[in-house]
Amino acid sequence: MVDTAVTYNLHKSFGDTKVLDGISFKVQRGEAVCILGRSGVGKTILLKILVGLIRPDQGKVEIFGKDIFNIRRSELLKIRENIGFVFQSSALFDSLSVFENIAYPFVVKKVNTDEIKEKVAKILEMVDMKGLENLRVSELSGGMQKRVAIARALVTEPELILYDEPTLGLDPVTRNTIIEIMKRLTDEKKKTTIIVTHDLEVAVRLSDRILFLYEGKVKEELTPSEILEGKSEEIVKLFETQGGG
Ligand SMILES: Nc1ncnc2c1ncn2[C@@H]1O[C@H](COP(=O)(O)OP(=O)(O)OP(=O)(O)O)[C@@H](O)[C@H]1O
Ligand SMILES: [Mg+2]
Repeated sequence: MVDTAVTYNLHKSFGDTKVLDGISFKVQRGEAVCILGRSGVGKTILLKILVGLIRPDQGKVEIFGKDIFNIRRSELLKIRENIGFVFQSSALFDSLSVFENIAYPFVVKKVNTDEIKEKVAKILEMVDMKGLENLRVSELSGGMQKRVAIARALVTEPELILYDEPTLGLDPVTRNTIIEIMKRLTDEKKKTTIIVTHDLEVAVRLSDRILFLYEGKVKEELTPSEILEGKSEEIVKLFETQGGG
C-alpha cells in the first residue's frame, strides 16, 4: 500500500536557528497521526513543508507517492486540492458569510450551485452548525469559527486532512466540543489525518499514533494506550519542565 505522507530526514533552519533536525516519519492511508510538541518546536513549519509551502533545506517529502519538491507546480496544485488544511489561526474571511467561507474551495472547481449548497449544508450539520450559512464570520465565537474552518477544510472531501493546533485558545467546554467533532469526522470519514498540537488530550483521544517532537527530532513514538498505561511519563515530564505552549 502506498503511504499517504512520508518524510525523509527533513532539515530546516532560519539563520542560526535549527528548527527541524532530521525528521522522518510515515503516515499510512486511513491513519490518524498526531505530532505533539511544545510551542516553537516547528510544528507549523512541518505542516507547511508537507503541503509544499516551505522548502526544507534537506530531505524529501512524498504525498500520495509523489516527491512534492520534484514535480511541476501544476502537479503540486493538484495534490493540494486533495489536502484539507485547518490553519492555526482558522484563516477565515471575516466579512464573508459562513456559506461563502465554506464554499470557497469550490471557486476554482466546476461544481454547480445546487451541489455546493448541498455539500455545505451537509458539512455544517456534521460540525453542529446546521442552518447557520448566512451568519458573518465576524459574528461568530472562536469555537464556531474553528468549526467553520474545519468544515471548509473537509467540504471537498480531501484524502488527507491536516490540523494545526485545533484546540488552541479555546475554553475547556468549546475545546471538548471541537475534539468530539474531530473525533466524529476522523471515525466516520476514515481519511488520513495529521494533527499537530501541544495538547496531549487531543493526541490521546484522536490519534492512532503519537510522535513526540523535541529539539528538531522525533524523540519518541507511542500509541494512546501506551500513554494511558503511563509509558509516556518520562517524555511528558520533558514537555512539562520545558513549559507547554
Ligand atoms: N519565516 C520564519 N523566519 C524565521 N524564523 C521562523 C520563521 N517561521 C518560523 N520560524 C521559527 O521557527 C520556529 C518554529 O516555528 P513554528 O511556527 O513551526 O512553531 P510551532 O511549533 O508551530 O509553535 P506554536 O505551538 O507556538 O504554534 C520558531 O522558533 C519560529 O520563530
Ligand atoms: Mg504553530
